[in-house]
Amino acid sequence: MQTTTAVDLGNPDLYTSLDRHDRWREYAAEDAMVWSEPGSSPGGFWSVFSHRACAAVLGPSAPFTSEYGMMIGFDRDHPDNSGGQMMVVSEQDQHRKLRKLVGPLLSRAAARKLSERVRTEVSAVLDRVLDGDVCDVAAAIGPRIPAAVVCEILGVPAEDQDMLIDLTNHAFGGEDELFDGMTPRQAHTEILVYFDELITARRESPGEDLVSTLLSDDELSIDDVLLNCDNVLIGGNETTRHAITGAVHAFATVPGLLAQVRDGDVDVDTVVDEVLRWTSPAMHVLRVTTGEVTLNGRDLELGTPVVAWLPAANRDPAVFEDPDTFRPGRKPNRHIAFGHGMHHCLGSALARIELAVVLREVAARVSRVELTKEPSWLRAVVVQGYRELPVRFTGR
Ligand code: HEM
Repeated sequence: MQTTTAVDLGNPDLYTSLDRHDRWREYAAEDAMVWSEPGSSPGGFWSVFSHRACAAVLGPSAPFTSEYGMMIGFDRDHPDNSGGQMMVVSEQDQHRKLRKLVGPLLSRAAARKLSERVRTEVSAVLDRVLDGDVCDVAAAIGPRIPAAVVCEILGVPAEDQDMLIDLTNHAFGGEDELFDGMTPRQAHTEILVYFDELITARRESPGEDLVSTLLSDDELSIDDVLLNCDNVLIGGNETTRHAITGAVHAFATVPGLLAQVRDGDVDVDTVVDEVLRWTSPAMHVLRVTTGEVTLNGRDLELGTPVVAWLPAANRDPAVFEDPDTFRPGRKPNRHIAFGHGMHHCLGSALARIELAVVLREVAARVSRVELTKEPSWLRAVVVQGYRELPVRFTGR
């Protein structure tokens, strides 16, 4: 079925309440294809929601590209100027080369090595919040862990990590007044300036970090190095923080989950996948057609932008039974929270390990997570994210 509408689905105000799930469920169930008039994206864009249609747009040989941009805001006349340089918006040789270079630093083996660092961070955070006042997980826990991990991968010296973690909080908070004082753009610029200095330092004394690895390839320009550090920083922070916050949200609201994880009654890796499906922090990805394409029965001409709404696909009733319910043992769980196809998240092993450590540590040390107020949601379209998740933790 096809639908057209004049609503601009790129309006961030549409995503601050849980109504978004009702809208997405309806669209996914109809396998709708919705047109958003020019507004958030100068030329407008099509949207798809069903698991089938999202997978078709992102699939390995789909006639779509991310090289002109992969987010709402896409402007045909001013394509993303990191296209062809930054991994997530590059294709073919450059994309293959970057995945090959960066992949080993984010592999399962590398992620396992980082799990001790994650455990230390989670433990330090829990020391501060157990049996204390109300804790806003979205601010105190969610962001801290991925930022520390990404700093480690990039080779950010320990003394700079707090500053960089703070900047990433500002850069990735969404278009929300919560992060007043510094706009996301200012914070992001400061991060890039910091990376520039880090690159100069690593050129003189290389290490085993991401910056040194990218610098070791003579074909990559300094611009390429900078942009790809940024890609890992954004990829690693912007999404994982909300999945971690969501894991705590699940502990607070899913009866028996704490005990199930603690007593080994449920496979933690299976719970991790349900957290990913249920939270779906990457809200959308955009692609542009590379030729004439027929999608959901509609003919699209070359250069047409199409947005795949991942949280909608991850609650598509045609694929997931009782999709709004968090089922700790859900199997199979064919969610596409990490995307699908050639740009499938390179940091997925790392994100999974971060989540598994959080689930295990919280279950080991906490007897109760009490939600003191319903969560509020970021005013954003790039991430589906928690604005506030106030809880009280009772230690064991
Ligand atoms: C790509 C989601 C964690 C690094 C992607 C994509 C999605 C995604 C949907 C595909 C984008 C597209 O198709 O245009 C997530 C989620 C995460 C997460 C939901 C956590 C819950 C991470 C982490 C890192 C990372 C921890 C690294 C430290 C990347 C990179 C890409 C990517 C480098 C680009 C891959 C490519 O273009 O080939 N991620 N991500 N992500 N992610 Fe993640």
